[in-house]
Amino acid sequence: MRNSILACVGLLAVNAIAAPNNGGNPWNGWGYSGNGRCMNDDQANKVANNFRDLISAYTTTLANSVLTTTVQDYSDSVIELIDGGCPSGPIALGSATFASRASFEAGQGSQPNITFNILNVWHNCDTVTVRWRLPMPNPGPGAAPAVQEEVTGIAALETVWNGWQSSQQFLINMIYSEFNSGAWLYDLEIFKPANCAGARRTRSLPSYFSQKI
Ligand SMILES: *[C@@H]1O[C@H](CO)[C@@H](O)[C@H](O)[C@H]1NC(C)=O
Repeated sequence: MRNSILACVGLLAVNAIAAPNNGGNPWNGWGYSGNGRCMNDDQANKVANNFRDLISAYTTTLANSVLTTTVQDYSDSVIELIDGGCPSGPIALGSATFASRASFEAGQGSQPNITFNILNVWHNCDTVTVRWRLPMPNPGPGAAPAVQEEVTGIAALETVWNGWQSSQQFLINMIYSEFNSGAWLYDLEIFKPANCAGARRTRSLPSYFSQKI
């Protein structure tokens, strides 16, 4: 956090010096929230809490107030859940999970609220990174396994500046969100591991992981 604050302060200082020479805003082309504003810790926490509330206390009114209309959401972890672990889809890994606010609302609006705890928040001028963890027991249909697996995730939230007068000064414009959907599939009893007492199965890991174990 401290480093990002210093980076922001540095940017603002340079901006103040550069602007008169330029006659305009020198940072527009850099995409810094539209007009060079750099978010502070409170604004970053608000964005992080907005993201949490979209999952844990979802309403369309909330989505309309904290997301841009063109927001996109990329999450192979969610696609893996939607696909139930099946390689045949229906949604291809790597594609946008939701490609607009309307699509996000159609998808998220039909989900039960899921509470999670924010563990860390980091930010730079226009992007907030949130690390989170579900409290256990995790929600799921039917009888959950007696022992559940913990689900932890990270989301990078790109924002755009929405004006000082707004109650939401930074709107989420891009969501990159990944989490332990293997644990989630286990908790939903879609994935049932065998031979849990056996040795760890490095063979099933990509080679770049197994070499480090
Ligand atoms: C989710 O939480 C919000 C806010 O509390 C509530 O209005 C909404 O009805 C809840 N959605 C579901 C599916 O329970």
